[in-house]
Amino acid sequence: MPPIDLNVVLAALSLGLFLAFVGFFGFLVLHQSSIEPKEPTGAELIEQHYAPGETIEQPTPYYVAPIPAAPDPLEISANLDKKIIVGAGMLFAVFALVGAYFFTLFVVRADAHTERWRDAVAYEHQQQKAIDRGRNLYANFCFDCHGKTGLGSTDPSRKDLPGLPLNKPDFKYDNIKDDPVKLKATEDLLTLTISRGRAKPAPQISMPAWSDHEGGSLNDEQIQQLVTFIMYGSDAEWADVVTVRLHSDGPEDGHLPLEPNPPKPQQLTPIELGRALTLSNPQAACVSCHSFDPNKPSTLPTAPNLGHYGTEGPLNAENKAAKASGDADWLLHWISNPPSVKPGVVMPPFSTSAGGQLSDQQIRAIIEYLQSLK
Ligand code: HEC
Ligand code: HEC
Repeated sequence: MPPIDLNVVLAALSLGLFLAFVGFFGFLVLHQSSIEPKEPTGAELIEQHYAPGETIEQPTPYYVAPIPAAPDPLEISANLDKKIIVGAGMLFAVFALVGAYFFTLFVVRADAHTERWRDAVAYEHQQQKAIDRGRNLYANFCFDCHGKTGLGSTDPSRKDLPGLPLNKPDFKYDNIKDDPVKLKATEDLLTLTISRGRAKPAPQISMPAWSDHEGGSLNDEQIQQLVTFIMYGSDAEWADVVTVRLHSDGPEDGHLPLEPNPPKPQQLTPIELGRALTLSNPQAACVSCHSFDPNKPSTLPTAPNLGHYGTEGPLNAENKAAKASGDADWLLHWISNPPSVKPGVVMPPFSTSAGGQLSDQQIRAIIEYLQSLK
């Protein structure tokens, strides 16, 4: 149920008060006249019953009032009490309404006359609207990867969701409002990640970029609404996400599916996987030194262009010797830990066993890719 607006309550109260006054004084006036005797006017003489055609003695319809020598003081004062009550009543009603107005202004809404109060009311209203819209956007665009209630990969019922949790204590305004640095950092993290997305090396699923400046489908205001929903949404509002889908037009019994349907991880061939690990994996950063395009020089001039490595490799004496000695894994050893093969080389170790970030399996995929470069 929506909260009752104080304005409506006040308006209803004033209206009720006003009607009560009108009723009360109407009653007083009626009551007053009912207890006062009717003054003779002469007209009552013809207010008598007779049937048509009946001969009756007609009284004269004319009543000639005696002309007083001077205005009769009793007549003048006859309705005075009535008039005083009505007049006083109206005055009293005016005072009462003015009083009620100031009472509500200064007591009920102690700071109603300040900007702050009005701003706060307007802000709260805007905020609730933004939360609702953010929730609706979430239900449409984020549900499949981040889940029914924003738990993402931490959702116990759906271990396969690729998205990270968004409905979590660290993102909630109430938990971080006392730390301005953290508050700002959280706002920025959310705004930037939603706008620009976060690329993950295949076969992992990436967080898409949503900003219309980045080729996505959401404008800045909508992204702000999503951030507001994530930071201010209550558990009840997160629980509403499924309800929103239930009431949205969709293919399943007329509504959107109520279970998240995340994109399946890509099935990559080892060469494709190696290519992704080599070219678009920040942890390997091969491209920060090497070129893999035969027509472009390497970023680091001493790092060979590997564009034809499948036919040209191995290049240096150490690797040639290792291959010639019959070591089938010579390239694995090189990429795992180049300085151990050629002391002093600037190419860093990549194997996790040597302090790098790549598993042997990932290095073997990279090797598949390198050997495909003909
Ligand atoms: C195709 C799946 C997918 C969709 C759809 C998706 N996300 Fe994501 N999102 C991800 C993945 C995967 C990550 C985790 C990236 C990582 O590992 O760093 C992520 C991460 C995030 C993060 C960063 C969380 C953190 O703790 O760093 C935010 C914020 C986020 N998503 C918001 C959204 C919003 C809002 C939407 C809807 C507009 C959305 N995502 C839609 C897949 C998705
Ligand atoms: C910091 C720069 C740097 C990075 C990063 C780097 N390399 Fe190298 N790499 C070099 C240099 C310099 C050489 C030449 C070494 C020599 O022979 O003196 C080299 C040589 C190579 C060779 C040729 C070996 C031979 O002699 O046949 C291969 C293959 C290679 N790198 C693959 C990779 C791969 C794959 C990655 C990413 C996982 C990578 N490199 C990252 C600098 C780098």
